[in-house]
Amino acid sequence: MLPEILPRPVPISNDEYLARRLALMAALPADSAVLLPGASLVTRSRDSEFPFRQDSDFHYLTGFPEPDALLLLLPGRHEGESVLFCQDRNPLMEAWTGIRLGAEGAVREHGVDQAFENAARDECLEGLLDGRRTLYLPLDSPEAMAIAEEVRAALMAKARRGARPPEALADVASLLHEARLIKSEPELAVLRHAAEISARAHVRAMRAARPGLAEYHLQAELEHEFRWQGGSGPAYASIVGGGANACVLHYIENRGLLRDGDLVLIDAGAEFDLYAGDITRTFPVNGRFSEAQRALYALVLEVQERTVAAIKPGVTLIELHEGVVRGLTEGLIGLGLLDGEVQARIDDESYRRFYLHSTSHWLGLDVHDVGAFRQEGEPRPLAPGMVLTVEPGLYIPADDDIPEAFRGIGIRIEDDVVVTVRGHEVLTAGVPKRMEEIEAVMATS
Ligand code: GLY
Ligand code: MN
Ligand code: MN
Repeated sequence: MLPEILPRPVPISNDEYLARRLALMAALPADSAVLLPGASLVTRSRDSEFPFRQDSDFHYLTGFPEPDALLLLLPGRHEGESVLFCQDRNPLMEAWTGIRLGAEGAVREHGVDQAFENAARDECLEGLLDGRRTLYLPLDSPEAMAIAEEVRAALMAKARRGARPPEALADVASLLHEARLIKSEPELAVLRHAAEISARAHVRAMRAARPGLAEYHLQAELEHEFRWQGGSGPAYASIVGGGANACVLHYIENRGLLRDGDLVLIDAGAEFDLYAGDITRTFPVNGRFSEAQRALYALVLEVQERTVAAIKPGVTLIELHEGVVRGLTEGLIGLGLLDGEVQARIDDESYRRFYLHSTSHWLGLDVHDVGAFRQEGEPRPLAPGMVLTVEPGLYIPADDDIPEAFRGIGIRIEDDVVVTVRGHEVLTAGVPKRMEEIEAVMATS
């Protein structure tokens, strides 16, 4: 019998993409414009390319899936405020790489007001941007800057004949990223699905694990589930670290053998409709935690559960992180891995020998999603619609001064959490994290 196929969530509608463009324009002066390029194909080797992944900001405003597109937003323009440039129709190229929507298809399928193919781009851009005083664009995008400079130069050359080139460039990213930080209900439905797929993949890897397999065997289990459920694949390079490999934070070689008596740490999440899941679980290769593993795991789990429970509007990421640092430091002293007073070990940062990353990041179209952590210099309070991870860990070096039973153990537990009006919703509850639950799942493989 084939494995279960989950129902897909409703895709984000054209109405929602339009509402996002209107909201952005409403925040801009009437005589400004937005210029936002999409992503291009990237060479993998010689004449083969990486699978195309749209730029997240561009996707957020358009849902348009082709490479080499460009969005212009022109507040107040009678003939249409949203103008898209896209690849030229080209029967020969389409025979190789598939149908291109072209200008007509872009308007029909994606609801932009007007579209042109790229062959007409330079000529059109001059006319469309003439008289727009401020040009909002991603200032860190060399491509956007090059397009803006080219148009500006062309209009400047015609200034004596009345052309009015843009006078200023301004960053569009901060406005866009503030909007992306708060997820709508349809976005949450897609994120929930990405999380559910990711959770199923982790359960599958737990069930498959046994001594003698390689790390990549578990990676294959995970990524099979991502694709089986219609995800595009991993949202970031899957981390499968057996034994001390778990202490390498971004270990992605996944070539080691899984050994009896070791833990394996898996940090992997599916990408679905461009939204990311991001889950970490750590479990024993042979299905049973040893005593030393149990002691460390219980500490990370207790701190992680307490941190998730504290999530509600008004709390800040810094407060969550400080709670984690305090909890882990207390526990490390209790286990004899640190000594002295808790506050002293926090102040001298000696806990960083075992925990050196932060506890949370935003999650959305990017795994480390956009949105400022501070507002006017102050840590920003959580608000409904924000999505974050909670991922404390402990990584014990295999050094001589560490009790032997603890050496080389790496543990991280990571869930994806939505801030709601009343508190929070955990998106990744579908994969167990309590030791007895993990052992029970692993016993039924
Ligand atoms: N997988 C990257 C992270 O957890 O931040
Ligand atoms: Mn994460
Ligand atoms: Mn992760």
